[in-house]
Amino acid sequence: MCGIVGYIGDKKASPILINGLLRLEYRGYDSAGIATIEDDKIEIKKNKGRVNKLYELDGINDLKGTIGIAHTRWATHGKPSKENSHPHMDNSNSFAVVHNGIIENYHELKSFLIEKGYNFLSATDTEVIPNLIHYYYNQDKLDDENKVLRAVKNACKNLKGSYAIEILSKYNRDKMIVVRKDSPLVIGKGIGENYISSDIPAILSYTKEFYLLDDNEIVELSRDKVQFYDKDLNIIKKKIKSIEWGASSAEKDGYEDFMIKEIYEQPRAIRETIGAKLDNNHIEIEELEFNKEYLQSINKIYIIACGTAMHAGVAAKFTFEKFCKIPVEVDIASEFRYRDPLIDERTLSIYISQSGETADTIAALKLAKSKGSKTLAISNVIGSSITREADYSIYTHAGPEIAVASTKAYTSQLVLLTILGMYFAEKLGRIDKTKIDNLKADILKLPSQIEEVLKETKLVKKIANKVYKEKDMFFLGRGTDYAVSLEGSLKLKEISYIHSESYASGELKHGPIALIENGVTVIATMTNPDLLEKSISNIQEVITRGAKVFVITSEDIKNEELSEIIKIPKTNPLISPILSVIPMQLFSYYISKEKGLDVDKPRNLAKSVTVE
Ligand code: F6R
Repeated sequence: MCGIVGYIGDKKASPILINGLLRLEYRGYDSAGIATIEDDKIEIKKNKGRVNKLYELDGINDLKGTIGIAHTRWATHGKPSKENSHPHMDNSNSFAVVHNGIIENYHELKSFLIEKGYNFLSATDTEVIPNLIHYYYNQDKLDDENKVLRAVKNACKNLKGSYAIEILSKYNRDKMIVVRKDSPLVIGKGIGENYISSDIPAILSYTKEFYLLDDNEIVELSRDKVQFYDKDLNIIKKKIKSIEWGASSAEKDGYEDFMIKEIYEQPRAIRETIGAKLDNNHIEIEELEFNKEYLQSINKIYIIACGTAMHAGVAAKFTFEKFCKIPVEVDIASEFRYRDPLIDERTLSIYISQSGETADTIAALKLAKSKGSKTLAISNVIGSSITREADYSIYTHAGPEIAVASTKAYTSQLVLLTILGMYFAEKLGRIDKTKIDNLKADILKLPSQIEEVLKETKLVKKIANKVYKEKDMFFLGRGTDYAVSLEGSLKLKEISYIHSESYASGELKHGPIALIENGVTVIATMTNPDLLEKSISNIQEVITRGAKVFVITSEDIKNEELSEIIKIPKTNPLISPILSVIPMQLFSYYISKEKGLDVDKPRNLAKSVTVE
């Protein structure tokens, strides 16, 4: 994963670089480093640990360079250590490189370079890059101003895998070069200065004008020019994109953590998601041009994603199947891409990705596209890689999500998927129109219903305080309540490090009930009146075996044996996860706080999983 930042201008680079890295820490935070050019020398400061540890390094404040590159790492090859942190230099100290991605053929390249006399100081795959650039620089007999650019181009032609790379060279002291392939990278345009970053929010306080890079593009930046090349160094033109997000959307705005801020942003995020797509009683999705004939021809819909985004898909399946009468299969992207799925031109495949940069989801999309499926991406990030690969893209417009644990992305994805399902259903005409109209009305009520849930957080906090020392918990539900339980259980694991499992209540008797013993915590969700009786029987079974049961429900349940009941507003069970997930998000959040953990940056996790 990793985050990278770059700056070229007339200001001191190091504070800008560190500031950018702090905003990219969600991508990885086991080591960090920066390189600047001072006079004719490349200066590097790096170490193991979080970005703010950089401030403790000797001489960090003395870096005067106005051009620099920086990196925050999520270790893949080589454990977190000073040696393995970026930037990495070539043996002659002429080229410094930071890299996000994985060089798959680095063993082969390393052997080649060792044979040519190069030494390696780290266990990373990245270190082959500066040395390979140096190798090609020395091979080139032409001594002109494009020599470094040619060396970079030749080196990249030998790299297999994914990379977003920034390169500084002492031979080109007023320029820097970046290359992108299958890893995110944007260029922010300023006046007399330019910025580089793995994502837009990290540099939003400096500029609102961006160039989005495509795969295999090479860019040479100077203070007042950004020159784009294709992989063979033919000059290409790119359009600038203005971004509307304010810089404050990427700040905490007085909240203690990004996660709690993002939980509270959900009413607004969902209003934005609904936006102009569902106005009064009318649905319009301008980005899509699916007519009735095409929709009638679909024999299967795949919904593919990872983690929380996949959980949104599991919940949305109910609407698509019920309203469109088309079979839907939801799959984990990393499984789908390697199982030779049955796809043809009658398959529609939908890919959900908040970041739009998840490597497995993008690979799954490419696979389905190659087999003739129409592909539709749902993302939160405009211009993200997945949206550039897909035939069609629609956006959640939830604003930047910074906390590693996803919250508003889930609810906004589920809202958008439900609107999409209704949009298909209207065109197909396979279901009673009043059913669709009722669901539309329920969708429009969601933002104020979430506000209601967010006003009553005391009980959730009390429960979290009671159970935060536990080692195991269980989440139960049926139908969409099971779908949301998957997400509740994931949130708990991610930020509180408590082991938890989610089960479809009806499955309990087939094995998992053996795990229920005296005092074990069970969170049961029951929002579907049609399934209520059955769900209550399942709960009774675990109560009998000594479980403490906390219930999230919109129904009137009276049962003295329940520990607590968290009431949420009534809505259509198809979209009840959008309400019932809120207490689950808060529950994990309060437990994590009670345990004194870093809520926004849980251990071992990164926000964008841009490697397989
Ligand atoms: C969980 C979480 C992850 C992501 C997953 C997919 O809180 O954040 O499970 O949902 O890595 O990420 P995107 O949606 O960016 O593809």
